[in-house]
Amino acid sequence: MDNKEFLKLVKKYEDKYEKVVENDYYRQNYHLMCPVGFMNDPNGFIDFQGEYHLFYQYNPAYPEPNKIVCWGHVKSKDLVNWDRLPPALAPIDWYDSQGCYSGSAVNVNDELVLVYTGNVKDIAGNRETYQCLAKTLDGVSFEKDKKNPVISNQPEGYTRHFRDPKIWQHNDFWYAIIGAQTEEKRGAAVIYSSKDLYSWNKIGEAAGANLGKLSFLGYMWECPNLFSIKNKDILLFCPQGVKAEGDFYNNIYQCGYLTGKLDYNTGKMSYSDFTEFDRGFEFYAPQVTKDSKGRTLVIGWMGLPDEENSPTIEKHWLHCLTIIRELQLKGNKIIQKPVEEMRLLRKDEMGYDGIILNNEEIQLKNIEGDSYELLCEFFYENVQSFGLKLRCNKDKKEETLFYYDSEEEKLVLDRSKDGFHKDGVRKCKVKASGKLKLNVFMDKSSVEIFVNDGQEVFTSRIYPSKGSNDVIFFAQNGEVSLNVRHWTI
Ligand code: FRU
Repeated sequence: MDNKEFLKLVKKYEDKYEKVVENDYYRQNYHLMCPVGFMNDPNGFIDFQGEYHLFYQYNPAYPEPNKIVCWGHVKSKDLVNWDRLPPALAPIDWYDSQGCYSGSAVNVNDELVLVYTGNVKDIAGNRETYQCLAKTLDGVSFEKDKKNPVISNQPEGYTRHFRDPKIWQHNDFWYAIIGAQTEEKRGAAVIYSSKDLYSWNKIGEAAGANLGKLSFLGYMWECPNLFSIKNKDILLFCPQGVKAEGDFYNNIYQCGYLTGKLDYNTGKMSYSDFTEFDRGFEFYAPQVTKDSKGRTLVIGWMGLPDEENSPTIEKHWLHCLTIIRELQLKGNKIIQKPVEEMRLLRKDEMGYDGIILNNEEIQLKNIEGDSYELLCEFFYENVQSFGLKLRCNKDKKEETLFYYDSEEEKLVLDRSKDGFHKDGVRKCKVKASGKLKLNVFMDKSSVEIFVNDGQEVFTSRIYPSKGSNDVIFFAQNGEVSLNVRHWTI
């Protein structure tokens, strides 16, 4: 099949299911989604010549068994209004026949170059893994490099679970960090360097073998990013096979980071403790980029591999991406803030100041909906718990609960009555300080809650019924004072 025929095949699926998909109430209002079918990792996020390009893993055939994983493509001038472009990479070559898997993008002398993993599996299920290049002249159609693949299969000591190259430039070299599994079935991230993007040398393992007390970090690491903020290097990656530990690591697969210093000679990183990146139910495969304003931006997949329980599947689509966030570093902790441009989406501001809640629940006029931004500041002293009931419908007994338990000093997200899920609580320790600030981004079927200016984030899909739009503020056994701002999006 050539590229033209592949684009026709994608269009066939899009035409067939676009109406069913569009009519689904759970289609998001302002989060990125694929037109039909299955979306997973964001790929190739880059600020290129005044426009942000973003790619993503896209299988338009889903939920039909025919798996055709290509790179979907969108671009934007402001990170909130996106234009859809034709798929950029089609799995039609011998080195990517079972999928153009995840990767990244770089600007090489004013050319946009994509670096990705070609996934190949024979009938017996044996895997091959190829790192490949593609470039564009017009920012729309991409040409794979004639010299592909530039790295064939894995280096010695690793299995063929070797993928997701993230590329950056440092001094005169290109570097790639690639997700890996050792022959002993331990997760790792391997570093390569190259002068020209064609000839690559493995220089070492950034983290994996040198993990010592962090050796609990699973059997495979996917989607590593290595970047620096304020002279510190950060390795953000997705370990698989980490066991739950109290309030930590409760999702099927994890996403978290180490901060420290990368030694460019040995490829080894010194690091601090592993920190979970997001405390909600769905966050995976982040893609980090630096933009021309010097900001470190991230977008993630609001889904997890092997987690396919959603009412949208019968409507022929599954998953979406998160909003874009700006990353900052405070000590060894990443702070995540909704990117400033999110404000462009704000409409119809409503506000209340100094509302007193004394062992009661209240609703506030015009604070409601299924697509909004909500900013709340709670001031508290002696109170057992307080917080929000989102997407409520008393008749249907639906609500998504988010509250602070001041006895346990924990934030709690409970989606067990969201309208679809039957169980599910995530908790996160946040020391009592007398003030709690929540910035909530609600969309038709998701919620992202930024706590205390990005100290923690809870990201989750939720599936309330149409019309479950109430917001209830509550305080239990005590008093809080509350300021609220609400914008429709
Ligand atoms: C992560 C992942 C990557 C792979 C891609 C395939 O979700 O498994 O490791 O490149 O998805 O779609």
